[in-house]
Amino acid sequence: MKENIKKILKPESPYEYKDKKFVFTPFEEEIVSDSLDKIKTFFKNFQAFYDFLIYIISPQYPSRYFFLKKLLSKTKNKNEVILNLGSGYTDLRDDIINVDLIPYKPVDVVCDITQLPFKDNSVDQIINIAVLEHVPNPQAVISEIYRVLKPGGKLLCEIPFMQGFHASPYDFQRFTYEGIKVQFKDFKNLKIHANSPTGGMLWLLQEWIAMLLSFGIKPLHNLILIILMCLTFPIKFLDVILQKHPLSKNIASAFIFECEK
Ligand SMILES: C[S@@+](CC[C@H](N)C(=O)[O-])C[C@H]1O[C@@H](n2cnc3c(N)ncnc32)[C@H](O)[C@@H]1O
Repeated sequence: MKENIKKILKPESPYEYKDKKFVFTPFEEEIVSDSLDKIKTFFKNFQAFYDFLIYIISPQYPSRYFFLKKLLSKTKNKNEVILNLGSGYTDLRDDIINVDLIPYKPVDVVCDITQLPFKDNSVDQIINIAVLEHVPNPQAVISEIYRVLKPGGKLLCEIPFMQGFHASPYDFQRFTYEGIKVQFKDFKNLKIHANSPTGGMLWLLQEWIAMLLSFGIKPLHNLILIILMCLTFPIKFLDVILQKHPLSKNIASAFIFECEK
């Protein structure tokens, strides 16, 4: 893995090699300051348990799982360069290069993804799941993705729409269905899936009830949210049917899309 990463690094980018990670941006603990994000950051150390929370308990139908499964089976044993940008705690496969601002255990390259330390046209596939909302200037990330992808290289991306504020470590914006078409206009073969309209409704309802019952007490708000998620998550499985509705794009929890350079 280390040699593969070195092959695609821009020669002029200075880094420190520390704890098996190429560190371009030193991590500052204080950037994780939101209380719910602190709880999540702690649970991210237990990947299987956090996966269970995200795929089963969180208010979003787990289409992401199926998109990733398809990508992993299509790219298996192909010896391609694959980046997971904003990988967080996830470790999808040994040969996939994990890139994040925070040095979670599986992260290989610690950097800000608005300034990727990789060469132009050097990458076959990029995964970017639930990250662009956390970057103040997502256009910079989109340009960097375009720059480092080889011609014909592919992107799998997920961006939230009907989701409440969730810092990781910050949260700056949402994208609509039409907005994605504009932001990704330079890419070819854009296919957008409007994921989980029921999840979108549940997320906002849970936030609304927690706001109402917590009287401004943040730990109580977080506790109520977690209880509500545990009580209401089965409703999201209505999305097996509802996310096929053409209007689901108006209230989708997130958009998952694929495109090519
Ligand atoms: C909501 S998490 C998503 C993690 C993972 N992609 C997943 O599917 O679970 C967002 C991730 O983006 C990372 N992130 C946010 N801003 C970033 C930036 N400017 N550069 C690199 N990573 C960033 C965060 O540290 C966090 O791990």
